[in-house]
Amino acid sequence: MQAPSFPKTSNTPSNNFQNKLSPPQKLPTLHGNNISLVQSTSVPIPRAISITAPTHHEIPNLDVEIDDNVTAYWDYQFLFMSQRSETDVPVSLRVVEGSIPSDFPIGTYFLTGPGMFADDHGSTVHPLDGHGYLRSFTIDSVTREVKFMARYIKTEAQVEERDPETGQWRFTHRGPFSVLKGGKMVGNTKVMKNVANTSVVKWGGKLLCLWEGGSPYEIESMSLDTVGTVNIMDDEYGSSKSLPADDHHHKETSSGGFWEVAAQVLKPMLYGVFKMPPKRLLSHYKIDTCRHRLLMMSCNAEDMLLPRSNFTFYEFDSNFKLVESQEFNIPDHLMIHDWAFTDNHYILFGNRIKLDVGGSMAAVCGLSPMISALSVNPSKPTSPIYLLPRFKNSHEKRDWKVPIEAPSQLWVLHVGNAFEAKNEKTGDSDIQIQASGCSYEWFNFQKMFGYDWKSGKLDPSMMNVNDKLLPHLVKISVKLDSEGSCKKCNVNDLGQWSKASDFPVINQDYCGRKNTYTYASTSSGSRQALPNFPFDTVVKINSTNKSVSSWSTGRRRFIGEPIFIPRGNGKEDDGYLLVVEYAVSTQRCYLVILDAKLIGENSALVARVEVPRYLNFPMVAKLNYNDPPQVGRPEVRIVQIPDTRVTKPMDDSI
Ligand SMILES: [Fe+2]
Repeated sequence: MQAPSFPKTSNTPSNNFQNKLSPPQKLPTLHGNNISLVQSTSVPIPRAISITAPTHHEIPNLDVEIDDNVTAYWDYQFLFMSQRSETDVPVSLRVVEGSIPSDFPIGTYFLTGPGMFADDHGSTVHPLDGHGYLRSFTIDSVTREVKFMARYIKTEAQVEERDPETGQWRFTHRGPFSVLKGGKMVGNTKVMKNVANTSVVKWGGKLLCLWEGGSPYEIESMSLDTVGTVNIMDDEYGSSKSLPADDHHHKETSSGGFWEVAAQVLKPMLYGVFKMPPKRLLSHYKIDTCRHRLLMMSCNAEDMLLPRSNFTFYEFDSNFKLVESQEFNIPDHLMIHDWAFTDNHYILFGNRIKLDVGGSMAAVCGLSPMISALSVNPSKPTSPIYLLPRFKNSHEKRDWKVPIEAPSQLWVLHVGNAFEAKNEKTGDSDIQIQASGCSYEWFNFQKMFGYDWKSGKLDPSMMNVNDKLLPHLVKISVKLDSEGSCKKCNVNDLGQWSKASDFPVINQDYCGRKNTYTYASTSSGSRQALPNFPFDTVVKINSTNKSVSSWSTGRRRFIGEPIFIPRGNGKEDDGYLLVVEYAVSTQRCYLVILDAKLIGENSALVARVEVPRYLNFPMVAKLNYNDPPQVGRPEVRIVQIPDTRVTKPMDDSI
């Protein structure tokens, strides 16, 4: 098993990219050549290469075999197209393939994700700044029906930016990743735009849509009506709302010093001028099914700009009552998007960042996105892993402030699971983290998804460079001695799946404890013009027998993030995978149900359910399935290589 070897970092990551998918010099003509998006002159063609609202008259090239760069470019644009249609009346969906299995747990699959990328006044926004578009698939295995609803979350920003009379949109908030072209640029301090678009969780009777920069919005789960924000983190100005110190709350305070003074100076500006909430609730949450707890984590707003980080962890019981809370201060400048927990630890894989002074000046002036104030920091060849004691009464001997340094430089995007095991004879502990990670050289805050804030265009080549740089599935193994000192730490591929992959998920019942199976979105590599992204394949990795199997969708079809729904008999891979599929050639979305045990077999597809074309939605999404069992989250994928199977030996475990 070889460790991922990423090329050395550079300060100009994009310079190494092959720009093989640059936009056409001019739009495809209306008259039939094979790169036209339309079939006849009577059908309007999208006039902007930037993300545009669908007109529902546009018909793309239906040829699924076409595999040229121009079609690839346009297919990529369609993935991030705005959707203006909503339905607050449940729509019955057509099962176009297979059938809803009678043992499918009855429940509702919620997805939130950005849905509005371009307004009616010339502004486009980065996909991550798109307004949250909440969808629900209610699956009834008795009637074998699926009902669908879709509504925008009425966040404060959404209410301001959409005219309820005309239905027109005018973006007034910059959003952290965007620059307004049709709105106020210079002097616009309306940066924070809580669009509730990053993930959804149902817990303690509340359905919440989360955003990485602020408080969640509560949604009424039957009507998808927006109730309002829920402050589960803080008082108005940053005092922890969590438990008192003599209860189960533990706070590791900083010792003061220069950066603490700097934080006190920054806070009034961030809170008062830029209206940032004191804490950012991360969109990735965890569910400890053994303890019936929802685990969440937040960061202090000012830490984005300072070389120190405050992380607060919250554990809620099944009634959404806060039962544990801890705050940790780490003297490093880190960007954490996802994290992990075990029986004894919270685990942070530290992505190192630094302040970009020039970018900060431009951002404050409104000339560049606020995110341009930050850049990755590749100054160290290693990656820090913080093992934070999960419980206050931990008798751990090791100093949690000292990170374990993984031997290679890795930017972790998503964590599938982590677990630990102690050898009672030696006292040694083995810890494993399963994650997706990419190269520092590739990751660029200003170019995520290939969005160019200067042009407002999406460049698919950003996501289709040398695949060694792109996100892959990795396994980080740590061995500690009885004193807690690190004896060994290595980073290996998770399985022998070498293709670009992301969104590792598992059976949530195994979260925090040893799992055998990991599922993820990946690429079949069958499309020459889009070899790595968007994803078109679900891969299943078995860590015990070392096998890897996969399922791919049809050509010019893409998938998001899978989610595992257990049948409920306790067997780890006995359940279903839900994934949303987007057939870009026909602009149709489908909910696909796969039998997780049969991934790799021709019979893996259980049902394909079609969303009406007028309710077609962009692919980026985060999911949660509930009602009966509380489960995880999702996103989308392709290939006509019907169902592919790959079984390869693998060679290591924890
Ligand atoms: Fe994420």
